[in-house]
Amino acid sequence: MSERFYYKGEDLFLARSSQDLELKKFADGHEQAFYLYDLEPFEERAQHYISCFGPEARIHYAMKANSHPEILKRARDLGLGVDLVSGGELQKALNAGFSREQMIFSGVGKSKKDLELALQDPISQINVESPMELDRIGEIAKSLKKCARVAFRYNPNVNADTHPYIRTGFKENKFGMDESFLPELTDLLKRHGENVRLVGLTLHIGSQLLNVDSSVEAVEKTIPVYRYFNDLGHKLESFDVGGGLGIDYHSDNYESEFQRVEEFARRVRPQLKSLGCRIFAEPGRFLVARSGILLAQVEYIKKTAYKNFVILNTGMHHLMRPSLYKAYHRILPLKKRAESSSFLCDVVGPVCESSDVLGYDVSLEGEPQQGDWLAILDTGAYGAVMASSYNSFSRELEVCIDLT
Ligand code: LLP
Repeated sequence: MSERFYYKGEDLFLARSSQDLELKKFADGHEQAFYLYDLEPFEERAQHYISCFGPEARIHYAMKANSHPEILKRARDLGLGVDLVSGGELQKALNAGFSREQMIFSGVGKSKKDLELALQDPISQINVESPMELDRIGEIAKSLKKCARVAFRYNPNVNADTHPYIRTGFKENKFGMDESFLPELTDLLKRHGENVRLVGLTLHIGSQLLNVDSSVEAVEKTIPVYRYFNDLGHKLESFDVGGGLGIDYHSDNYESEFQRVEEFARRVRPQLKSLGCRIFAEPGRFLVARSGILLAQVEYIKKTAYKNFVILNTGMHHLMRPSLYKAYHRILPLKKRAESSSFLCDVVGPVCESSDVLGYDVSLEGEPQQGDWLAILDTGAYGAVMASSYNSFSRELEVCIDLT
């Protein structure tokens, strides 16, 4: 597969199906750091997910990864549903034109107000994370004279190989419910009768997963729970396999990440088919990470006896992943400084924290100069959505290109 980012002479280009884009030309005229979104990879990836899981499956885009209105609209146009985690996201999904039948509501701490919003005109599914939450849903549904369609999030106790902060299906995590909860959940379903209907099970064991074995194991561990509720007479309709499949932040090689989705679908589809249920999935990062580039300018170069620092007009306030998870993102200059050899440096932001580092020991193509632009790649997922205005710096800008 050819490189998506490449240099022609000294200039960095982004390869696109219609016309390649010289990024420097695009950055010219901008006076602050900004995210550039290219919807092409998003579309290609959504189609890949749909083709791997089949037309009968429902893919809900996990909009927490990136809730830019243009991305949401594209997801809707591609026929995806949406996985949301707050009333704020529900409202954004409505604004983007999703119907309530296309929405599932995840999250461990749904507020009363958010549940009311989800139930006043009931959405497709609410994923329940605790008996107390189920009880609250039942009470609200009763007061609104509605029936809540719920799925239980199962915690399969799988120790997925990823950063501990984004592992979610292990016994130590706050997410989901293990088998010890089943009797209480069964009682609550009885108690809430008409106002709550169990329609499925859901799981999500973590994010940036580079091996599908634990995801398959999680599905296999959840199948008996599905049977348990079916045998009790609940007519379950769907089995939600979650999101979590990762990308290769070190290269432009998409093949392995596409194959991972294929392998996961190939291994779980037959087992779920035998249950007679509809498959749901909630990918976020896989769909959108490759669509984002954070473009920023060099404010200063600082050379100490120990290190070189390239100080940018962006940092942890715009892209928190490196500070929070020591996450790696490739960093490339938009213009190679060919007159000097490669330049080893830490690429840092302006925030008053030593953890405000976007890249450690980055080898740049030549020593950049003040005002040069750098591109921080694969920042479409969990970039802008996690930004803050810490230090009262201005918030990130987001620009969408749709040249398809
Ligand atoms: N479903 C549920 C219930 C989730 O909690 C998540 C992500 C997803 C689906 C989508 O997962 P994905 O396909 O994007 O891996 N901020 C972190 C990632 C946090 C993921 C939170 N949950 C990061 O930057 O790596």
